Amino acid sequence: MIICHIMDEEAIETKDWQHYESSQLSGLPGYVKIVEVGPRDGLQNEKVIVPTDIKIEFINQLSKTGLSVIEVTSFVSSRWVPQMADHTEVMKGIHQYPGVRYPVLTPNLQGFHRAVAAGATEISVFGAASESFSKKNINCSIEESMGKFEEVIKSARHMNIPVRGYVSCALGCPYEGNITPQKVTEVSKRLYSLGCYEISLGDTIGVGTPGSMKKMLESVMKEIPPGALAVHCHDTYGQALANILTALQMGISVVDSAVSGLGGCPYAKGASGNVATEDLVYMLNGLGLNTGVNLYKVMEAGDFICKAVNKTTNSKVAQALFNA
Ligand code: HMG
Ligand code: MG
Repeated sequence: MIICHIMDEEAIETKDWQHYESSQLSGLPGYVKIVEVGPRDGLQNEKVIVPTDIKIEFINQLSKTGLSVIEVTSFVSSRWVPQMADHTEVMKGIHQYPGVRYPVLTPNLQGFHRAVAAGATEISVFGAASESFSKKNINCSIEESMGKFEEVIKSARHMNIPVRGYVSCALGCPYEGNITPQKVTEVSKRLYSLGCYEISLGDTIGVGTPGSMKKMLESVMKEIPPGALAVHCHDTYGQALANILTALQMGISVVDSAVSGLGGCPYAKGASGNVATEDLVYMLNGLGLNTGVNLYKVMEAGDFICKAVNKTTNSKVAQALFNA
């Protein structure tokens, strides 16, 4: 139970300033699917190894919040990302709730086979629109990565396993700086053509603004329908919610976020956490958009993991409600 003065569920759900104001903005979807990446993106950069049973309990708590997609772990090399070394134990240990999907990251066939053996039924491949980032993150060029993803996607298709595709550095790269919308579009189109059902456009280092988000999406949406796109915004420069709102107004209805604003990529120095799920849900509630997610329960899960990793939350909403 969260300890704070106003912490009862009803109080949070009925706060006056949260009353719906959807008529004020145009072009918004009625329903927004939130992809919770806290257990993977949120934890992958934590220096201290989080015990496996804490990860499992965290995911089980998230499963009871109304979230429909929870990214569980990564089947990557433990030499590269030690925090994800317990991927198999986590995947096998979680309780899989009906109506919730539990994708995992798989960079190559080796990761894919291990993920399937651990019980994964949905996966993501992760590429980049920056050559330098691709090499630092997955040790191969963009072209080479497409070959690996093609193999993974083919195998997944044989097993009826849906594949999501990430494109990192969609609004900037920690090594190359500016990345053109054309490059983002080219990589996204390739992943989509290979068979990814959804492309998540990652602002890996959180440098984007509503202006650059709009430009990038205008380009990508010439090749991929908005219904097959998602945005994944890290919040380094405090622009994530504004960027997400821009994307929603352009027809995107899938948004990645991490409870408590945890997150970062080990191969993107200076990148801070993802947009906090609590802040995203609060904004979407205020806009009258349905997510199916219970803000109070998400805050409880956030409180649990923050205490476990000895961190204070990055969520403004959680901070405000804890101190109210
Ligand atoms: P590599 O060294 O090029 O792989 O790593 P390799 O094929 O040359 O094999 C070398 C060794 O790695 C071998 O072991 C393989 O068995 C092993 P050895 O024979 O030397 O003992 N290996 C593996 N082990 C476990 N799982 C595997 C695997 N593949 C090979 N799947 C690799 C290539 C991709 C594995 C490596 O570069 C890696 O693990 N990178 C980590 C990437 C990562 O997890 N990054 C963070 C996630 S991406 C992200 O955060 C961005 C995102 O959030 C969106 C955004 O914000 O933009 C998604
Ligand atoms: Mg990320």
